Amino acid sequence: MMQFTVFGNPIEHSLSPRIHQLFAEQCGKQLDYSRSLTSKQRFAGAVASFFRAGGQGANVTVPFKEQAAELVTHLTPRAARAASVNTLIPLGQGQLAGDTTDGMGLLRDVERLVGAQGLPQRVVIIGAGGAARSVIEPFQEAGCEVYLSNRSAAKVTPLVQRFSALKVLPFEALGHSPSEEFNANFCLINATSASLAGHALPIDDGWFSAGVLTYDMMYGAQLTAFLQQAKRAGAGELADGLGMLVEQAALAFSLWHNGHVPETLPVLHQLRAELS
Ligand code: ATR
Repeated sequence: MMQFTVFGNPIEHSLSPRIHQLFAEQCGKQLDYSRSLTSKQRFAGAVASFFRAGGQGANVTVPFKEQAAELVTHLTPRAARAASVNTLIPLGQGQLAGDTTDGMGLLRDVERLVGAQGLPQRVVIIGAGGAARSVIEPFQEAGCEVYLSNRSAAKVTPLVQRFSALKVLPFEALGHSPSEEFNANFCLINATSASLAGHALPIDDGWFSAGVLTYDMMYGAQLTAFLQQAKRAGAGELADGLGMLVEQAALAFSLWHNGHVPETLPVLHQLRAELS
């Protein structure tokens, strides 16, 4: 049977095995998709032995996405620019390709959520870690003006050099009412890890009420701290990262299964029902 896994730490709650099983059922395939708990020191060895044993693909999640980008022998251009890899593809003879499907996964989910009204003109991404880096390029290529806002400015500088059209929104600006260019036509995306720790962010209510969509890349059975904050502030449409998770998985699936792109909506509905 085809073997897949996801490397992460922690990993016990990862929904990736469930998602890939549901995709496989759609197309009558049989596969085994496991969870692999590892550490920074053991990551490279764990990846090598998984593929030596015949593994046909792996996902990488927190906190190994950057390390994975350094480990592979071939990086796709988008993964190189994001310095982040979430999908590993064996090329034979010990060679390994690394790609990132996170950003495109988020873009697809946001496109689904905004529907016929189309993507907003501006996208504000909060955070500058791997999660944030991987979504800049897909949104820019889709025609959005991308603004990045991060607590520590030092992390933003190299990204402005790498993504030339990237705009910077000082983190402090989020603490005040949005300026005029952020009228209704923007989407606010939380790509920080603050929701993991249950922390709210210092954001003025106006940022939530003015935008067309408030999105947290984290997800859970309950609303994340960020989405609770947004709801209290009167935000319009709210979304957590479950849709992004399913979409990035579908893109990884197609990389491993000859371009076959599974249907994502039934899988998203099923997972949502199982989460609650
Ligand atoms: P990932 O690869 O998942 O994005 P990361 O590289 O650890 O994770 O990045 C986490 C991001 O969340 C960073 O942008 C971090 O801001 P700093 O660069 O200032 O550390 C941001 N972050 C985490 N907790 C935060 C908080 N409580 N308030 C604001 N930003 C936070």
